[in-house]
Amino acid sequence: MNLENFKETIQKLKKEKDAFILAHYYQRPEIQKVADFIGDSLELSRMCTNIEQKIVVFCGVYFMAEIAKILAPDKKVLIPYRNAGCLLADMAIKEELEKAKKEHPDAKVVAYVNTYAEIKALSNVICTSANAKEVMQKVKADKIIFVPDKNLAAYHAKSLEKEVILWDGYCPVHNRITWDSIERVKQKHPDAVVIVHPECPPEVTERADFVGSTSQLVKFVKESPHEKFIVGTEEGTLFKMKKEAPNKKLLLPDPIPLCDQMKMITPERLIRCLEEEIYEVEIEQETAEKAKAAIEAMFRL
Ligand code: 13P
Ligand code: SF4
Repeated sequence: MNLENFKETIQKLKKEKDAFILAHYYQRPEIQKVADFIGDSLELSRMCTNIEQKIVVFCGVYFMAEIAKILAPDKKVLIPYRNAGCLLADMAIKEELEKAKKEHPDAKVVAYVNTYAEIKALSNVICTSANAKEVMQKVKADKIIFVPDKNLAAYHAKSLEKEVILWDGYCPVHNRITWDSIERVKQKHPDAVVIVHPECPPEVTERADFVGSTSQLVKFVKESPHEKFIVGTEEGTLFKMKKEAPNKKLLLPDPIPLCDQMKMITPERLIRCLEEEIYEVEIEQETAEKAKAAIEAMFRL
């Protein structure tokens, strides 16, 4: 199937089914090209509440599609591949969080958006990489259990006067971005500015020139007077960066950070998803309501 045929097929199916397509920045370029809205996890969560169409197709990983269903329960929310999971979200186990809450009854639970609905339901407030510091600062507690990304939590905890209990979780894609993997590229391009996602390990966030969420990295490249960047995040982000800043030179660490889970959404699977209306996201009502309360607490903060 060539891309033109694919685009046409998707346009036709979207009309026929009354569907809206959301895609995360880490999606394949073919998918980003046919999406109605592309964003990072915060932008996508906000968008979920403003969709008129009957069907929402979420091109991303499963926890993201769950957010769409939580925030728009009357919509039919579909994900083109049911097993597109998030390895970081898998590291937050419900029973372990229940245990931690009992051990620290005076702490508030701040859950990173990369968690499943059952974890969000046990949390006081959600945050994304774009607003984590603000949420941690504003939540009314001196003690926080932050679940599950230890790198992101430790990065922000440094500048907060709060006790932050770190979870032993990390994103294997970002955690693999070592300073060596950046140095290998920097040696050939000493003039490149290093920008990284806060899920990277401390040895990287401490030395980078700029640390920010996916959308903050895109904005930084667009607005910066510099010409050349080493981008320490998932390679899909470069598609949007190139669009926003076509004259800038963008480089990736060596090896290239790539999330296999995000890439499980393919053109063929997207077509099948629309044609057969699979895979539908469903969440048990009580869990969805509790998770929604934690997400809305984030919007309020
Ligand atoms: P963003 O919040 O920057 O979209 O990140 C989501 C994610 O999965 C990072 O690995
Ligand atoms: Fe999850 Fe990491 Fe993939 Fe993001 S890049 S979806 S945190 S595994």
